[in-house]
Amino acid sequence: MMGMWMVHIIDHKLYREVAGNPSDYPKDLPSDDNMIFRFVGRANVGAANGEQWKKQSPILRQAFSIAPPIGLFVSLARNVFQVLEASATSHNSHTRTVRWSDLGQRYALDAVGSSILGANYDAIRTESLFVSNYNAFMRDVAQPVYLMFPTLERILPRKAVSMRMDNLVKILVERLETKRSEPGEDLMTSLVNHPDMSPTELRDNMAALFIAGHDTTSGAIASVVYFLAVYTEGQKLARDEVIRVLGPTLDPSLSVLNPQSLPYLCACIRETLRINSPTSYLVPRNSGDGVNLGRYYIPPKTLMICNIYAAHHNGDVWGDPHVFRPERFLEGPQRTKGALDRDPFLTFSTGPRQCPAQNFATYELRTLLAMLLREYDWWLPDSSIHAKGLQNAFSPFGLTLPRDLDITFRKRLNSDIATH
Ligand code: HEM
Repeated sequence: MMGMWMVHIIDHKLYREVAGNPSDYPKDLPSDDNMIFRFVGRANVGAANGEQWKKQSPILRQAFSIAPPIGLFVSLARNVFQVLEASATSHNSHTRTVRWSDLGQRYALDAVGSSILGANYDAIRTESLFVSNYNAFMRDVAQPVYLMFPTLERILPRKAVSMRMDNLVKILVERLETKRSEPGEDLMTSLVNHPDMSPTELRDNMAALFIAGHDTTSGAIASVVYFLAVYTEGQKLARDEVIRVLGPTLDPSLSVLNPQSLPYLCACIRETLRINSPTSYLVPRNSGDGVNLGRYYIPPKTLMICNIYAAHHNGDVWGDPHVFRPERFLEGPQRTKGALDRDPFLTFSTGPRQCPAQNFATYELRTLLAMLLREYDWWLPDSSIHAKGLQNAFSPFGLTLPRDLDITFRKRLNSDIATH
């Protein structure tokens, strides 16, 4: 992986031991030559180890502990509908086919932009230059030969890519500067005003939150819409449930977007996160002086990868691991193989370094899905490259992002909703 040999951890119990003990198993980031690690730096909460992580982690967790901004998610979902409406081929047409993997990414970007970074990209409705430069940068970063041999960045430097990265960082830093004079309601404003955060830590967190905050969720948004497109019975069940709870006009709110009120919808999202986890593995951990892990001895300075994708497809734990079956999260423990046991579900990882934004991301997904189900039916177009199974794009960092996913949407009529 990343041009190096690593031990993959698939057993979820061993995974918990490694991911749950950051002092014994520190993160080991690839060399600074790797462009993406130059972009996010080393001083952000996701990359830091030891005292620096111990200082930042409670600050970030506190900042994420506020209620997720459902009102914002609702208005962004409406922006998505506007784009869907505008893409109809003719005025009378009720169907439209869009590149959903792009539109989903734009929704995720606007969600993280407004509430976390305090930057209104309006990416759903407009072509943001910053966003297209970022996407181009990520394509450059993913060039296999530079991934395998990062030292090439020194031998054959890619000046244009480097300049593009510097420009992206410059824009992020300028935004940080303005936060001091123009504070907002966003998470970065609270970090900027925190006395313990240094300028480098602020810069690195801004870049890291930009990536962590949207590329993961956008993969989940694309995947769940794909699975419900293919699994039509599940789409119908989820829609019936949403309409039963929200009726024809009620906006989703914190009090209903939960497994008690919308169990089937939440199970569909959870099953998507299991079967096509947006993060397929964690940042490598280092075995230090060597460790005994379960029945294995891991030699000193070995890199270890907690492999979420493999753990989530372990047939000894999950019955029919390759089958999309949301019901596994609704059944009693006696009838299911491991699914109700929370242990094997690792999408957001576990322990003190688990994702601090899982609430944010989960509600972001639930809001969009609930609104989409009420407003539209959808399916894969005939020409879909995903007809024989979901195709993920190549991602150098283990993100599971469906590739070029087109979806055909049909606007539901009021009478469809009323007859439910
Ligand atoms: C479906 C969406 C998401 C998934 C599946 C996900 C998954 C994960 C995972 C697996 C980790 C652990 C990484 C490791 O230990 O190597 C993590 C950490 C982290 N995530 Fe997320 N994430 C999601 C969304 C977000 C969002 C929306 C944000 C911020 C806006 C975010 C911010 C972070 C941060 C800052 C960390 C580092 C925590 C630490 O090391 O203490 N994530 N995430």
